[in-house]
This record gives sequence, structure tokens and C-alpha cells, in this order.
Amino acid sequence: MTDKEQFLSICRENIHRDGIDALLSWLEKSDFFVAPASTRFHGNYEGGLCEHSLNVYREAKKLNDIYSLGFSEETLAICGLFHDVCKTNLYKKGSRNVKDETTGAWEKREVWEIDEKIPLGHGEKSCLILQWYIKLNIDELLAIRWHMGGFDAAVKGGDFSISRAQDMSRLVALLSIADMVASHLIEVKGD
Ligand SMILES: [Fe+2]
Ligand SMILES: [Fe+2]
Repeated sequence: MTDKEQFLSICRENIHRDGIDALLSWLEKSDFFVAPASTRFHGNYEGGLCEHSLNVYREAKKLNDIYSLGFSEETLAICGLFHDVCKTNLYKKGSRNVKDETTGAWEKREVWEIDEKIPLGHGEKSCLILQWYIKLNIDELLAIRWHMGGFDAAVKGGDFSISRAQDMSRLVALLSIADMVASHLIEVKGD
């Protein structure tokens, strides 16, 4: 099965919420299944975003089992598979002049660039896009909003709301740990 087929089959098996069909048909029309997960870091190649989302889903399920946290299959699927939906239609291909290390000659290299059309933040944007289609519960909202952990722009700016969110729901730490494991321990960086 391809990553896209796995993604869709996990959705079909686990997510039964009103609006999921509309969410998936929007996703099908977008670049979600071919987009990279980042421009320069983990999964910076075609299909990286879908692969990353599957990895986060699998790690989230493991953490839920290991620590007997009791979150539902539906919640784990929504958070794992859709936490980075903010990256849909975000990247575009561009080019950059790079100096070849051995020959010293300059050559044009294809790179991914950010083309943000809905600047609402990162976790915030994922929550807002999802809420256009499906209704998220409070655990899911908090977890997706704060999944970047200490790398979140608001946290870096001194906002302590993440601590309150972590106190309110263990799904917040679960999702940000799963995201870290996927992006830093599992996924590779392309050239
Ligand atoms: Fe993210
Ligand atoms: Fe992520």
C-alpha cells in the first residue's frame, strides 16, 4: 500500500465524524499527498508530509498504549494524521544557485520554498482548517494547537498557555512527543 492508501484506510477505519468525507475530498484536491513535510528539515521531499503524518499517528498510538492513556482510535487518528494540515498548499518549488564543493562551479538547484496564503500560525491554522470540516473535541484542539511544544512561536515569545494546556490534557504532551520522535528519530532529511 502507498502512504496515501494507508492514510485513507486509517481514516476510513477510525474516523467516523461528520464532515470527514468533505475534509478528505478537500485533501485529495490539495497537494497534501505530494507535499514535503518541511523545506530544509525532516521529510523535505515529495510525499514527506503524508509520510510524517503516518509516522506521528503510529508513534501517538504507541505512547497511548505504553502509558495506558485511553485516548480513542478516532482521536489518535485525527491528531496524528491531521496535526500538520496547516502545511497543505504551503510549499512551492523554487530554485537557488549553489556552488559545487568539488568543482567550484555554480549550479541551479531545485529547493522547496514557503508560500503562505493563510498566515494564522502553525498549530492554530491546523485547528482552524480542521474545524471548517469536522468538530474537534477539547483534547484534540489543545493537542493540535500546541503540538510544536517548545518550538511554538507563542511559547518562544513567553506565552505560558502551553503549560495550562498540558495540565488540562495528556494528549498535548503525547502529540508533541510523537511529533518529535517522528521528525527527529525516524525521518530523514533529503539533499
Ligand atoms: Fe507541526
Ligand atoms: Fe508534525
